[in-house]
Amino acid sequence: MATTTSMASFSYNRKCTAPLIRLLSILFAASVISGEPPSVVPSACKRAYGVGGGSFTEEFCLSALTGHSVGAADNADLALFTVDLAAANATATEAKIDSLLGGSGAASEGLRSCRALYDAAVHVYLPDSHAAVKDGKYVDAKLYLSKTAQVPVDCERWFKQRNVASPIDKEDDNLAKLANLAIALTSIA
Ligand SMILES: *[C@@H]1O[C@H](CO)[C@@H](O)[C@H](O)[C@H]1NC(C)=O
Repeated sequence: MATTTSMASFSYNRKCTAPLIRLLSILFAASVISGEPPSVVPSACKRAYGVGGGSFTEEFCLSALTGHSVGAADNADLALFTVDLAAANATATEAKIDSLLGGSGAASEGLRSCRALYDAAVHVYLPDSHAAVKDGKYVDAKLYLSKTAQVPVDCERWFKQRNVASPIDKEDDNLAKLANLAIALTSIA
């Protein structure tokens, strides 16, 4: 009697386990496809934050990289992705500066100097950074990314020295953090 019971429950378990495993693998595949953070992102952000010298938070890294970088396999991929994100950012900021330059406020002179700085970031430093990361030339990449990180600092300086509110302080802050994140990811690639 006891044997029959345990046989019954054994076959019951086997019938249940196969669909359960199938369900779990479907859920796993779905979570990967829907862009849940691939496991490389949290650990990369923890390490990048560790070498970032406080220039960005771990949360900034997670929010910048999560949900976009499903195809990223390693830190070099994430660095390249971050360079492209910074390029999109700087390009959008350049367009914003152009629209602000239409007016004739107290900030015009500062905005013109920022325009020249962002132009160099968009057309020289970031394309050079992209090519260097892609080719695995990480020393060169860090040099170009450092030049990129300097752009928002120099841009903000004009406004700080004159006590004029910067109309692009948020954008400058974003570009500085993205460039420093890219440097950190490059140094752990
Ligand atoms: C610029 O970067 C910030 C921080 O990652 C992000 O929130 C914002 O959407 C980006 N903007 C563009 C235009 O890429």
